[in-house]
Amino acid sequence: MLPSLIDLERYPIAALASPGGDLLIADCRAQLARTGACMLPGFLKPDAIAAAADEGARLAPRAHRLAGSRSTCYLAPPDESLPEGHPKRRLQTTSVGAVAYDLIPPDSPIRALYESETVLDFIGAALGVERLYRYADLLGALNIAVMTADEHLLWHFDQTDFVVSILLQECVAGGAFEFVPRIRSADDPHYAAIERLLDGGRDGVIRLDMQPGTLALFQGRWSIHRVTPIEGARPRLIALLGYDTKPGTVSSDNLKLRRYGRLG
Ligand SMILES: [Fe+2]
Repeated sequence: MLPSLIDLERYPIAALASPGGDLLIADCRAQLARTGACMLPGFLKPDAIAAAADEGARLAPRAHRLAGSRSTCYLAPPDESLPEGHPKRRLQTTSVGAVAYDLIPPDSPIRALYESETVLDFIGAALGVERLYRYADLLGALNIAVMTADEHLLWHFDQTDFVVSILLQECVAGGAFEFVPRIRSADDPHYAAIERLLDGGRDGVIRLDMQPGTLALFQGRWSIHRVTPIEGARPRLIALLGYDTKPGTVSSDNLKLRRYGRLG
């Protein structure tokens, strides 16, 4: 199955002990060390991209939509005790749809990729973690984010150490993934820099050029990021692959209701 989905010559993930596998892992870790983002363009083969995009487009109407939800960049309610303009107080909107794992058919190419042990082992090695587990979440383990015209994702920090994604279909214009590498750290919240960014500042902003079929590993806990508004009729489709360093991870009921509109 994998040889038909993944460009194994360019990305020898099934032979990690080979010299090519060593080089690949070293490259992934170097990219992550440099910016907290690792991009593997052309990870999916062209036929697999086309099949996954078709499937995503078929499933898109079943996405649950979260429209105009308001939150801070910390994905927490605003702290009204702080001065106006403070990042912890400032609300932004976000609009996105999501297709849950249980709606993705058993013969789906993207499901086959997510459920592959070879892919699991490769991503664990790329991240430099001892062992990786798939989420035990029947809705959120694998899901497809669907963004249509005017939808966007707010500037935010993730509440997980890493996110694994594969862009399936790009929109006509807009929909750019932007981030500021390590704008904060565990020791320094760096509120002033975040406030300048939320005011429209562009200091340190990197715009990632993601093509359909790119596998992306992103460490978003310290690097604020967003997706700019989508333009045009074609939706942006991106598969999100849920992995954790411990077994049994499930989304909270609150997150399930917001993202998928149901608990099971
Ligand atoms: Fe995020």
